[in-house]
Order: sequence, then C-alpha cells, then structure tokens
Amino acid sequence: MSLSTENNVSQKALDDDLFTLSPRHPDSRLEADWLFLFNKLPPDQWFSADYAYKTSGWLKVHTNIRKRQRILTQISEGYQSGDYDWSAYRSQMLKRINMHVLKLHQHHGVEDEGFFPEFIRMYPQLQAGFEILGRDHLRLDALLDKLQVQNDMLARSEVEDKGLSEQLHQTLMDGTDLLSQHLTDEEDLVIPILGLRQG
Ligand SMILES: [Fe+2]
Ligand SMILES: [Fe+2]
Repeated sequence: MSLSTENNVSQKALDDDLFTLSPRHPDSRLEADWLFLFNKLPPDQWFSADYAYKTSGWLKVHTNIRKRQRILTQISEGYQSGDYDWSAYRSQMLKRINMHVLKLHQHHGVEDEGFFPEFIRMYPQLQAGFEILGRDHLRLDALLDKLQVQNDMLARSEVEDKGLSEQLHQTLMDGTDLLSQHLTDEEDLVIPILGLRQG
C-alpha cells in the first residue's frame, strides 16, 4: 500500500467518524449495526414537520411515563425528607402508583404483542435489539408487580410505616435507571422506524 492510499484510508476513517452519530446516552446497549436508521433520522429531526406527525405519539407516551416516574420519586423523596406527613404522602402516592403500574403494563403489552413483532418483520436484522427491549419489559414488569404489592400495603396502612415507605422508595429508585435506559434505547431503535416508514 502506498503512502497516499494509506492517507486516503485514514482520511476516510476520519470522515466516517465525523458523521457517525452516537446513541443518546453513554450506556446505550444498541450495537452500531442497528443504528442505520437512527443515522438516517437522528434525534434532532424527530420533531421536524416531515416526521413529527409519525413520531410524536410514541415520544409523548414516553414523556408521560418519565413524568409519572419523576413525580412519584419526588413525592417519595419529599416524604423521606419530612415535607409531607403520612396521610398526605399516602393520598399522593396511592392513585398515582395504581395509574403508573396500569399504564406501563398496558404499554409493554402493546409493544410486545403488536409493535415489536411488526418491526422485526420489517427489519429482521434488528431482532436482537428488540429482544433486549423485551427482556427489559420482563424486568420492569417484575418491579411494577413489587410496586403494586407495596402500594396495596400502603393502602391498608393507616398508621405510619416508615419501613414500608423506604421499601417503596427503593423500588422506585430501582425502576428509575432501568426505565430511563429502556425508554431511550427504545426510542433510538423505534422512532427512526416510525419516521421513515410510509403512510
Ligand atoms: Fe418498552
Ligand atoms: Fe415504549
């Protein structure tokens, strides 16, 4: 190989590097091979007029999930640091947790049974990526079941039970990181599919 060819090669590698986008968080589990659609439709275009009508529904559902998780965490932290008494804490938590658990289970069901199989049929090369997301759902659903059991205990606990509130807080904490990683990886995989498909 001549020196000039070598230079060309490294220049090309440099150019490729420059235009290779990274998934949106450093802990992304998406492999570079799965990002061919993401590179065609990167996040800064998701809300542009050409795509928003196809992508914003999914993103909005995720925004609401993140918001519910954040509010629950804030209430739980508020109680732990003495901002709420037991009855205010309970009345804030009970309905919100019931709603959060219900909505998330439904959301996972729709994805597992409808969307993910459809996307795998469209792009079989993304199957391993969707399997990661499906396994996340199993782990998240287990945490949601735990949260529901603890919430049912909360509903019966008219007398303050600090131990229960700490367990509940821990379950919420365990869910936050997993949920955030899951939603972001899912968006990086799914939103370009939605945006780029016809119709
Ligand atoms: Fe999901
Ligand atoms: Fe989702």
